[in-house]
Amino acid sequence: MSKDIINIIMTTPSATVISLLIMVMFNGSAQFVESAIGVNWGTVSNHRLSPSTVVDLLKVNKIQKVKLFDADQDCLRALMGSGIEVMVGVSNDLLATVSSSTAASDLWVAQNVSRYMVKGGANIKYIAVGNEPFLSSYGGQFQSYVMPAITNLQQSLAKANLAGAVKLVVPCNADAYEASLPSQGAFRPELTQIMTDLVTFLNSNGSPFIVNIYPFLSLYGNSDFPQDYAFFEGTTHSVTDGPNVYYNAFDGNYDTLVSALNKLGFGQMPIVIGEVGWPTDGAINANVNAARLFNQGLVNHVLSNKGTPLRPGQPPMDIYLFGLLDEEAKSVLPGSFERHWGIFSFDGQAKYPLNLGNGLLRNAENVEYLPSRWCVADPFKDLSGVQEHVKLACTVADCTTLNYGGSCNGIGERGNISYAFNSYYQVQKQNSRSCEFDGLGMITFVNPSMGQCKFLVGVTERVVTKRISQGLRLHSGSVILWLLVFCLGVLNL
Ligand SMILES: *[C@@H]1O[C@H](CO)[C@@H](O)[C@H](O)[C@H]1NC(C)=O
Ligand SMILES: *[C@@H]1O[C@H](CO)[C@@H](O)[C@H](O)[C@H]1NC(C)=O
Repeated sequence: MSKDIINIIMTTPSATVISLLIMVMFNGSAQFVESAIGVNWGTVSNHRLSPSTVVDLLKVNKIQKVKLFDADQDCLRALMGSGIEVMVGVSNDLLATVSSSTAASDLWVAQNVSRYMVKGGANIKYIAVGNEPFLSSYGGQFQSYVMPAITNLQQSLAKANLAGAVKLVVPCNADAYEASLPSQGAFRPELTQIMTDLVTFLNSNGSPFIVNIYPFLSLYGNSDFPQDYAFFEGTTHSVTDGPNVYYNAFDGNYDTLVSALNKLGFGQMPIVIGEVGWPTDGAINANVNAARLFNQGLVNHVLSNKGTPLRPGQPPMDIYLFGLLDEEAKSVLPGSFERHWGIFSFDGQAKYPLNLGNGLLRNAENVEYLPSRWCVADPFKDLSGVQEHVKLACTVADCTTLNYGGSCNGIGERGNISYAFNSYYQVQKQNSRSCEFDGLGMITFVNPSMGQCKFLVGVTERVVTKRISQGLRLHSGSVILWLLVFCLGVLNL
C-alpha cells in the first residue's frame, strides 16, 4: 500500500511533464485525430448472414473498423479489398498453444494474418491476444499465458515483416481494476505485476490499452445503481471526486482506468474501448429505447471530443460497439439479454435509428430469407404433453425473449409454445419435419407476431455457399468463357 503511494508520488511529476508535452503535441494535430466508431462482429448465431452481406452492411454504413473474436476465414476473406481496418483475435483457448513455442505463434501468424496481408487483402491492424483473459471468473486460468504469447507473437510478426503494420493488444474487462472513486483506480492487486509488464510492452510498441466498459451490466447487477447515471442525459446522482464531478458511469469507469494506468506510470497511454453497448431484449432495462439512448449518447459524447475530467479533450482513440448483429446462439449464462446486443438484428435490420456520425443506420441489402412461413401450436390440439418439446426446442433455438423483461413475455401459454416451435423450425431451416412435435405443430402462412413480440423468419444459410465459392469462382470463369464462345458462335451465324 505505502509502496504504491510512493510510486504515485515519484511518478506523478514526470507523468505530468510528459502529459503536458503530449497535450501540446496532440493539440497541434488535434483536428486530424478523431475517434472512430467501429463494431464487434461476433458470429455465434444460428442464422448467420453471409460474410459478404455483412461486409456490405459495414460499407453502406461507412463503418471503418471491425473487431473479430477470432480469425474466421470466411469473415477475413469477405473483408479483403474492403479497406476496413480489422482486429483479429487469438481466442483464449489458443493462448496456451501460442505461448508454448514460436513455431506455434509463427503458424498462427502465417495462417491467420500474413496470408491476408497481401495486395487487395485484409487490412489487419491489431491482433487481440486473448479476450478478457484476466476476467475474475476465469480464476486466473489464462493470465500466465498472456505475456509469453505476446513475446512469441511479436517475434513472429517481426519475422513476417509485419511488426510495423500489426499491433498486439489485450482487450481487458473493466473488472481488471477497481475503486470507489475514479481517482483511486488501481488494477486488482494480483494483476499488478502482469499489468505492469503488459502496459510496459504496449507503451514500447505504441499500442493502446483496450478495455470493455458496460454500464448496462452495472445497472443489471446492482439494484442500487442509479438508472440515469448509466446514460449520458444528465443525472441526479452525480459523483463528486475531489475537484471532478462525474455525470455518467462511462466517464467514471474510464477515469478509474486512467488512474490505474497512472499508478503504473503510464497515465497517458492511449485507450481504446474494445466493447461497449446496450442490449435490446431479455431483461427489464434491455429494450430498444434504452439501447438507443445509451448508444446515441455514447457516440455523441465521444465524437464531441469532450473527453473526461482526467483526460479533457482526449476521448478514447476508438470505440467498438458491441455488437454489430444479434448472436442468438451465445451462452445465456450472463443473462437472457446476452443474445440481444446487436445494433442490427440477426438479419442486418437496424433495430432503432442510430447515427454513428454518417447519418442514420441503413439496413443490410439483398438479404435472402426463407419463405414467409411459421410453425405454431395447432389450436385444435390438447397441449398437455408439450413441455418436453418446448424444452428441446428452446435448447436448440433461442427463446430468451419469452423470459421476464423480454419482448415476448406475456404472450400466454399457447403463445409461449408457438414461439418455441417457430424458433426451432426456423433454426432447422423450415424443414417440415421440424414442425411436427408429435402432431402438435402446424405450419402457418399468417405471421403470428404479436405487438412487440416478433416471430422470426430465418435467413438462408449462405456461409456454406461462400465456402464453396473458391470452386465457384473458377466455375463462373468458365461460364463466362462458355457465354463468350456461345455469343461468338451466334455472331458467326
Ligand atoms: C487461426 O485462427 C483460427 C480461427 O480463430 C483457428 O481455429 C486456428 O487454429 C488458427 N490457426 C493456428 C495455426 O493456430
Ligand atoms: C411463458 O414462458 C416464460 C418463460 O419461460 C414464463 O416466464 C411465463 O410464465 C410463461 N407464460 C405462461 C402463461 O406460461
